[in-house]
Amino acid sequence: MPQELAQRVAEAADLVTVALDELLPRADGPESQLTEAMRYAALGPGKRLRTFFALETGRMFDVPERSVLRAACALECIQAYSLIHDDLPCMDDDDMRRGRPTVHKAYDEATAVLAGDALQTAAFEILAHPDTHSDGSIRAELVMKLAQAAGAKGMAGGQMIDILGIRDDLGGVARMQRLKTGALIACAFELPLVLARAKDSERHAMLGFAQDLGLAYQIVDDLLDAEGEAETLGKAVGKDAAKGKANFVTLLGVEAARERLSLLSGQTKAHLEPFGEAAEFLRASVDFVLERRN
Ligand code: IPE
Ligand code: IPE
Ligand code: MG
Ligand code: MG
Ligand code: MG
Repeated sequence: MPQELAQRVAEAADLVTVALDELLPRADGPESQLTEAMRYAALGPGKRLRTFFALETGRMFDVPERSVLRAACALECIQAYSLIHDDLPCMDDDDMRRGRPTVHKAYDEATAVLAGDALQTAAFEILAHPDTHSDGSIRAELVMKLAQAAGAKGMAGGQMIDILGIRDDLGGVARMQRLKTGALIACAFELPLVLARAKDSERHAMLGFAQDLGLAYQIVDDLLDAEGEAETLGKAVGKDAAKGKANFVTLLGVEAARERLSLLSGQTKAHLEPFGEAAEFLRASVDFVLERRN
């Protein structure tokens, strides 16, 4: 299973990169600097786990892959935008991302801000296009879900809490995580569920899974920041502690964070029980997320 899963993750990454290459704008005039920076960020070697989650969920609910892949492209545009802005000097001030110079290093800060802006709007343009789904009300629901996940009550709100650096409180860190990372990860499950017109009970079970998985994802990110290797990760390490930022590991310590992860593992998988064999790859992806090294 681990090998088959790794192959499916790699296939998902290839699919979304090819699709993004087709969907992202190119330009001839001086604005080509913007479109090149957008492409540099969005086509770079990300793990594409949100894409994998979306494609697997789409398969479970028999959604045409073409539609889910467009939703995955929109998610990856938001992910790329959030990382460009997260790395800016006014935010985390990072020089490396996905093993390469960050966008403001490869280009400049103004270009990085604009590339983030334009990737964000590209995400909604992709979702709103009739190729995503023939029914306009479904497209509107997709747009709404992604906007909620990325906005003030989602990723951007979580980034605000992170930047304010509120410390010493595990509840506060958990809430920050739900907004900062959890919302977009949950959206990777929500968009295909919208496309599938899934039942409330199915959405409920899948979202329970998504929330626990998102929490595990961020705890692992914090552990990797504490003890990972920059070369494998493709980004700097030790930044959270150096900046005095509260995260799961700075508050709990490495051992307790690991214990929490092992408890979360079973709890996360349990949400998938109603789906039986159809959820085998998502179930296996929990271990994949927990054991990731990059
Ligand atoms: C990095 O996300 C930031 C977090 C949300 C923890 P990923 O670890 O999914 O980064 P990429 O997209 O694979 O580069
Ligand atoms: C950023 O979290 C999450 C985003 C919304 C982009 P981090 O600041 O911990 O992500 P890394 O460690 O730089 O990838
Ligand atoms: Mg950050
Ligand atoms: Mg960062
Ligand atoms: Mg981090």
